[in-house]
Amino acid sequence: MITDRINEVLAEVSGITADSAEALESLRIRYMSKKGIVSELMNEFRNVPAEQKREVGMKINELKTTIQDRISELRQRLSAAESDHSDIDLTRTPYPVRLGTRHPLSIVKNEIVDIFSRMGFAMADGPEIEDDWHVFSSMNFAEDHPARDMQDTFFIESHPDIILRTHTSSVQSRVMETTQPPIRVICPGRVYRNEAISARAHCFFHQVEGLYIDKEVSFTDLKQVLLTFAREMFGADTQIRLRPSYFPFTEPSAEMDISCNICGGKGCSFCKHTGWVEILGCGMVDPAVLEAGGIDSSLYTGYAFGMGIERITNLKYSVKDLRLFSENDTRFLEEFMAAH
Ligand code: PHE
Repeated sequence: MITDRINEVLAEVSGITADSAEALESLRIRYMSKKGIVSELMNEFRNVPAEQKREVGMKINELKTTIQDRISELRQRLSAAESDHSDIDLTRTPYPVRLGTRHPLSIVKNEIVDIFSRMGFAMADGPEIEDDWHVFSSMNFAEDHPARDMQDTFFIESHPDIILRTHTSSVQSRVMETTQPPIRVICPGRVYRNEAISARAHCFFHQVEGLYIDKEVSFTDLKQVLLTFAREMFGADTQIRLRPSYFPFTEPSAEMDISCNICGGKGCSFCKHTGWVEILGCGMVDPAVLEAGGIDSSLYTGYAFGMGIERITNLKYSVKDLRLFSENDTRFLEEFMAAH
């Protein structure tokens, strides 16, 4: 009998549940689709004798709305469960934790400082906004010395005496003012020069300055320390060569080349096919600089050297464009993930 079947389905429907959208969809198909149970009953309804049609028709309609109500109730429950975040622990550390990387210039700076501290050098520091005395005058640049033009200085407009330091040699001057020999310091820091920004030049970069002052310090000591540094930094096979040069604050002065780390000295575009690349300036501290720093130049001698950290980093990691160091492109920075 059709009414028995309707009651049976009604009882079944009161117990249905769905714990997923898929389960709910199969319930909808089972009861409400074209070939579903409700359609089946509608087909059977045609055979119901006329005098029962009214009663059976009402029963089928009741069944239909019951099923529809039940399905939409289940649908609502499912979407409420989806937006219910009560099972999320907000006190947990987010995962995965993205670790930052040390900047390549910091990695190389730390390595340089490490090498020199193993040779007995202590760290020293000084301001980036400096006065003319510490950057130039105490470093033996005369007032109208053309060497002042070697470095394009940024001036603080309202204070012609206050400038952004163009080299870390200003720290030498500050150390000498406050310390008597023996002095053995390494001074890393940022320096500024008014240059157009390109792949090979920037308006700021980083240097490491070294200074050693004591009795009987000679050029031989300088050479040995620099050779040791070059081999620690670039490998035991590294060769160095010193070429005579000029700096107001050292006499004699030299520039140091190392055998090209990229081609091993055979010649490549980085070393302009010479097999050598310049990495630093150095020399014996000019007696006038010692005196300006309050150190007796008849008792003491010293050497100094200064190198660009960007240059060392370029050589070590084949970075071809200086601008990469200050653009904060994480794709570039992440390449150094393994280096520290
Ligand atoms: N201050 C020099 C420069 O910036 C480098 C240097 C430092 C040279 C110490 C000699 C001695 O070019």
